Amino acid sequence: MTDTSRTETTQTETTQTDSAPSRRDRATEATDATRHGAPVRTHNLVKTFDAAAGNVVPAVDHVDLDLPAGSAVALTGPSGSGKSTLLHLIGAIEKADGGTITVGETEVTALPGGKLAAYRRTVGFVFQRYHLLPALTALDNVLTPVLPLKVDFDKQARARDLLAMVGLAGREHDVPSHLSGGQQQRVAIARALIHDPAVILADEPTGNLDTRTGEEIVDLLLALRAERGTTLLLATHDLTLAARCDTVVRLRDGQVIEVQQVAGDRSTAETLESIERLG
Ligand SMILES: Nc1ncnc2c1ncn2[C@@H]1O[C@H](COP(=O)(O)OP(=O)(O)O)[C@@H](O)[C@H]1O
Ligand SMILES: [Mg+2]
Repeated sequence: MTDTSRTETTQTETTQTDSAPSRRDRATEATDATRHGAPVRTHNLVKTFDAAAGNVVPAVDHVDLDLPAGSAVALTGPSGSGKSTLLHLIGAIEKADGGTITVGETEVTALPGGKLAAYRRTVGFVFQRYHLLPALTALDNVLTPVLPLKVDFDKQARARDLLAMVGLAGREHDVPSHLSGGQQQRVAIARALIHDPAVILADEPTGNLDTRTGEEIVDLLLALRAERGTTLLLATHDLTLAARCDTVVRLRDGQVIEVQQVAGDRSTAETLESIERLG
């Protein structure tokens, strides 16, 4: 993304912020019917990769986590500390080498191959680079996960509602190149919600965005989890964004080195200070 489009991003999204109340109303309407999240637990979770020269890299090294349903959890740590691998394991994009993952009632690590696709539909992924299909409109991008499936809801209506919920009413027929980076990430978030997931896994979702747009995206993810009860796992380098979550899990070399509850009664500055002290 060029700097020019970043400038446009900020301007366009300032306009959208003005219409926040109507967006919020729509999100709240969806709440009662869909409020649910799942607890996420890992025990002794291990994933190794074979690196060059026969070295084995422990990307996730005996990780134990116990994250309540509906919690907002930041995964932080330097590049290579295992944040993405942990999200991929929980989302069943990668297969663990050892240990267990339980999401809600499902022991993900015990699922046979034939049940993985159904499990993955209970999880919504949001990526740093959006991964939208460039030739498709925003609406069709949101619909892609359900296009080949028979579902018991009106796909088009849900996709439109989700786009409205993320602040993109009226932009349904725009292709990604006509949208700013922040708007493209909003489309990706709507797409992640199309199956009404119990867990959202967001891997550096603000990594390609300017600070202000990044904050808006994290605010949106936090608002959606508050309104829908979804469990949110957010991998981020950015400690200011991490401090907005309820729990901060710090990883280093694949290991959890600290789990910190973020006290709601502390200011962001105090929280940041205590997170940075751990560093
Ligand atoms: N597909 C892969 N093949 C080999 N090594 C990998 C692969 N994915 C991740 N790794 C290694 O695992 C470790 C953790 O990586 P990653 O989970 O991407 O960390 P982070 O997201 O915190 O940057 C790193 O050492 C990385 O090089
Ligand atoms: Mg990563």
